[in-house]
Amino acid sequence: MSPKLTVLVTTIDEKGRADVSPFSFVAPVSFDPPLVMLSVGINKHSYWALTRVKEFVINIPTEKILDKLWIAGGKWDPNESKIEKAKFKTEPSEKVRPPRLSECVAHIECFEEFSKKAGDHIMVVGRVVAVSANEDYLDDKGNLKVDDARPPLHVADNIFAFPYVTKSV
Ligand SMILES: Cc1cc2nc3c(=O)[nH]c(=O)nc-3n(C[C@H](O)[C@H](O)[C@H](O)COP(=O)(O)O)c2cc1C
Repeated sequence: MSPKLTVLVTTIDEKGRADVSPFSFVAPVSFDPPLVMLSVGINKHSYWALTRVKEFVINIPTEKILDKLWIAGGKWDPNESKIEKAKFKTEPSEKVRPPRLSECVAHIECFEEFSKKAGDHIMVVGRVVAVSANEDYLDDKGNLKVDDARPPLHVADNIFAFPYVTKSV
């Protein structure tokens, strides 16, 4: 199932430590109420953060921050936040405690609605409580200008694709 849109999920744990990790197991699942789903591997730091502090932000990255995204895919180190290690710029979210990543083109703030174990992952369904976007990357209908933003699609291992040509039908 490749390539897959890859997002940067910010979380905060019960000690108030913010974390960031790339996720490609992610999808919208309902318009009303607005629900999105991500699937997190059991025992990752994001897993512990999401199961204890049930808030997260889905940040939509661009090609420009691909190197930072890759660093965020590294192992959690309690002594050095991946947000600082990758030099992400952050800003407070509107409704949830995990921060937004300023260099991302859009931010989807969520509270956990419910979670369900699915094999070696847990599916976390979140209710969207706030959405924000960088206006420079939106067209006059509010749609993302994907050919400008160029969000990375994960192919495999360290390979990403940027295959953007938009067509209207
Ligand atoms: C492109 C890409 C996509 C990824 N997608 C997921 C995913 O959907 N779910 C997941 O649990 N891990 C995914 N990972 C792996 C996590 O980002 C990685 O295990 C990270 O170290 C977890 O960090 P944490 O322990 O701080 O949560 C992905 C990694 C990359 C590079």
